[in-house]
Amino acid sequence: MSSTLGVGFLGAGPVTQAIHLPTLARLTDTFHVVHISDVDADTADRVAGRVGASSSTSADAVLDDPRVDVVAICTPHRFHAAQVIAACRAGKRAVLCEKPFATSADEAAEIAAVSAETGVPIVVGAMHTFDPGWQAATAHWGSLPQNSHTIRSSIVLPPNPRFEDFATEVISPRTSPPAEARSVEAQAALAHAGIMGLAIHDLPLVRTLLPHFDDLAVLSACALAPFGYQIVLTVAGTRVELHALISKTWQPDWTLEVYSDTQALRVEFSPSYVHAGSAVATLLTAGSAQTWGPATHNGYEGEWGDLAAIVRGEKQAPDTAGLVEDLRFATAVADAAADLVRSPYREGALA
Ligand SMILES: NC(=O)c1ccc[n+]([C@@H]2O[C@H](COP(=O)([O-])OP(=O)(O)OC[C@H]3O[C@@H](n4cnc5c(N)ncnc54)[C@H](O)[C@@H]3O)[C@@H](O)[C@H]2O)c1
Repeated sequence: MSSTLGVGFLGAGPVTQAIHLPTLARLTDTFHVVHISDVDADTADRVAGRVGASSSTSADAVLDDPRVDVVAICTPHRFHAAQVIAACRAGKRAVLCEKPFATSADEAAEIAAVSAETGVPIVVGAMHTFDPGWQAATAHWGSLPQNSHTIRSSIVLPPNPRFEDFATEVISPRTSPPAEARSVEAQAALAHAGIMGLAIHDLPLVRTLLPHFDDLAVLSACALAPFGYQIVLTVAGTRVELHALISKTWQPDWTLEVYSDTQALRVEFSPSYVHAGSAVATLLTAGSAQTWGPATHNGYEGEWGDLAAIVRGEKQAPDTAGLVEDLRFATAVADAAADLVRSPYREGALA
């Protein structure tokens, strides 16, 4: 029996090719990739061929493969919930699911129930939560969560292929949809997709600061062309500003800032797909500054490292109730933002 954990992939798109395979190539003491599936047979064959794995076009072939200990789910969002549940029911040792692990709170709750019933741990690939720079800041920030009054997430990135192409030569890259005149409904869908696809990386961090969001109110929301959003919301009296623009920028920036009356935290993350160390976090308090990072590993290695430690029994599995709450928060923000884009002048919308 192999001493490393066998990994099987569902979905062999750019994220598998440019994020997870390069990450696992640095973790060969712990993992080996044994099976890659994709609905597109040519993509599955060619990606599997690069790492000496078997290939198939069906999820069942991966789940039935006894060499697969860990299932990595890297398909489009709408397939995640059913595939996570099937992997748990197949009795695998752990599941790593790309974000978001579900598209609704009901799906997330169903996953949590199946994970509890089967005992199969689930790690969600929200990589910033595993970033050592972020984790060091959370361990030292004292009363910042209780006292924060402003949180700002700012993401300015070039289109994904810029960084995917640094990591690997992508087989079967995505084709960009043609530019279109955007109706109000299309803009609402864009804002929703931006939250569920991009802001969702940082919303679990925001929820670490603001765990209870029953009084969530989205004050303003708009979609930004060609892809992005600008949203202001409040939770428990704290103002949260979410801004993202994917455009032809030369200077990427992915920053999370948190302010209270006495502290200021600034966390600068690497862009997605970049394998170049962790975030740098700086915490200012009156008269002192502390900085953490860059560490040699980033959140991608962090999530796989945590998964291995969970399987070995060295670390507790993530609290699935917390994962459900993260998803509930993200869908609440996305739904409210999309509603506001649809009808910005309804009563109370501009409070
Ligand atoms: N962690 C990160 O930094 C990061 C960055 C971008 C995207 N993502 C997430 O990663 C996931 C995958 O992203 P991507 O850009 O590679 O997606 P993609 O849509 O470009 O590719 C997914 C692949 O899955 C295949 N596929 C589609 N339906 C399938 C099915 N039912 N079973 C098996 N294969 C199927 C497609 O043929 C494609 O090759 C998404 O959930 C996305 O949100 C994560």
